[in-house]
Amino acid sequence: MILVFGKNGQIATALRELLPDATFLSSQEANFLNPQSVLEALNKLKPQVVINASAYTAVDQAEQEQETALTINATTPGVIAKWCCEHDATMIHYSTDYVFSGEGDRPWLETDPTNPVNWYGETKLRGEKAIQEAGCPAYIFRISWVYSPWGQNFPKTILRLAHERDELKIVNDQWGAPTDARDVARLTSQLAHNLEMKGECPAPGIYHLRFEDFQTWYQFAQKIITDARTAGLPLKVTQISPVTSEEFPTTAKRPKNSRLGTTRPLL
Ligand SMILES: NC(=O)c1ccc[n+]([C@@H]2O[C@H](COP(=O)([O-])OP(=O)(O)OC[C@H]3O[C@@H](n4cnc5c(N)ncnc54)[C@H](OP(=O)(O)O)[C@@H]3O)[C@@H](O)[C@H]2O)c1
Repeated sequence: MILVFGKNGQIATALRELLPDATFLSSQEANFLNPQSVLEALNKLKPQVVINASAYTAVDQAEQEQETALTINATTPGVIAKWCCEHDATMIHYSTDYVFSGEGDRPWLETDPTNPVNWYGETKLRGEKAIQEAGCPAYIFRISWVYSPWGQNFPKTILRLAHERDELKIVNDQWGAPTDARDVARLTSQLAHNLEMKGECPAPGIYHLRFEDFQTWYQFAQKIITDARTAGLPLKVTQISPVTSEEFPTTAKRPKNSRLGTTRPLL
């Protein structure tokens, strides 16, 4: 059977449609802040495939809630990976472009050195390491700029602000690729099915996933507004202005180059 940690997040919600027979556990049913509750769920359900769609994803808040973010993003994923090792199960986990420093303008490859610039990125990197140190085959998908019809994400924020304000100022020096949670879910569900049926699967390890063109947040916002206008949504906004990261300070520093390239295409 396939077990998914995370039930109401963006990727987990997309997975629910594609994996109707899988078991999905919310943070109330298996709380990553209490690894024992996660182990109890694993021992009870004995899955062959474990998808970890749970994470602490509040990037700015993570700078303050460091221990909480670390436990959810690194310690407990390590515990899950160890359980998978001991029970011949395979883990699929998600990581982030934020494991990189953001320097330069070349897309980052799976083999490039990591060097996160914020605590969220640090916790996600430690999660990758904890899973790898468990010593068994696991899939780690690094993704960037996730959006979906559900939860909190950039397009939803832009549309809300475009209803409220005349002008939007959007950062134009951070580069990455938006990722529709449904694309990630499609690929994950195919892999999970193949693992469950012991079919042909790509080699385990770290993969960078990219489904859309590289762009800045400003360019992404322009497209969101254009699409909304085409769809006939009434918007107050009349001007979208590009700004630098320095003009738009945030609690957690953001990498400017978040382009994920790949040496091992899965798509
Ligand atoms: N969002 C992005 O832009 C982005 C970018 C790169 C990588 N990623 C990675 O992609 C993965 C999925 O992201 P997402 O955007 O789908 O996340 P999300 O929408 O923020 O959902 C996070 C999930 O984590 C669960 N969770 C939070 N605290 C928990 C706890 N204490 N115990 C158990 N579960 C807990 C939540 O469960 P409940 O709903 O039950 O509370 C929720 O299902 C994560 O690994 C994330 O790091 C995301």
